Amino acid sequence: MIRIAVLADIHGNLPALEAVLEDVAAQQPDEVLVGGDLVGRGPCGKKVVQRITEKGWRGVRGNHEDYLLAFRHKRVRSHWLTAPEWTAARWMAAELDEAAARSIEGLPLTLSSRLAPELRLVHGSPRSNSEGIGPWTSRQRMETHLAAVKETVLVCGHTHRSLECRLPTGVVANVGSVGLPFNRDRRAQYALFHFDREEVEVEFRRVEYDLGLTLGDYESSGFLSHGGATARLLLMELEQAAPFLVPFIAWARARGVQPLESEVGAFQEFYDPDESFRSFSCRMRELGDASKRLQEPS
Ligand SMILES: [Fe+2]
Repeated sequence: MIRIAVLADIHGNLPALEAVLEDVAAQQPDEVLVGGDLVGRGPCGKKVVQRITEKGWRGVRGNHEDYLLAFRHKRVRSHWLTAPEWTAARWMAAELDEAAARSIEGLPLTLSSRLAPELRLVHGSPRSNSEGIGPWTSRQRMETHLAAVKETVLVCGHTHRSLECRLPTGVVANVGSVGLPFNRDRRAQYALFHFDREEVEVEFRRVEYDLGLTLGDYESSGFLSHGGATARLLLMELEQAAPFLVPFIAWARARGVQPLESEVGAFQEFYDPDESFRSFSCRMRELGDASKRLQEPS
């Protein structure tokens, strides 16, 4: 029997990572892989990269590694370098040191396990580190993703929601998120894969940690005071284990306003994190139409 642990989407949440490291040590897997998004959406990116580097675990590059490197190297639209809605991204890019930046820059987009060669790891999907595989992904799309790799066990992260989909040709599994889960369970989450002859079993692990320590990092690092609306919405994500930031940006766009801290209160009145994606999208379309009508000359 070979056991592989896969952790992903740590997002600069050091206390959540430390709790998972302890649980991983107790589980004694044969290999540990890291599924990307070590940084971004959180204040302790540098230390998270240091801890993973110390462990010597191999991993892939998430879309948030790409975002922060783009800000660091100023390979973004020029107004993003000063626009207030990007203050948090600039803060997180500057928080990394040279060693951490080099380390995430060198990560591949995909890799396979050395001990269980049937396991292929990506951050988002085999096509892109910003394409999500989530509970809403159709079975047909799952089959297409699995067919895109030669291995039979496709493992991913990115959507911050754990899932396991068994197909005639193999398994697609999302390991969930260590630092910022979106499945209404705020424990730090990762997965253990048990390979036994032709069979693989997926065990989703959920580990308690002290969220107060993470909130303390938000304050003591200066992220909360410098991160504008983003830091405030990330706190809500941490506390409620649900997405707030991306819906806020979509809501601001539909209303035709800047996604700034002054708008967060109005967004909270509009938004229900338990609403289905379909219903939210529908309300956003209506909101977008209404704001367009308001802006049209009568
Ligand atoms: Fe992520």
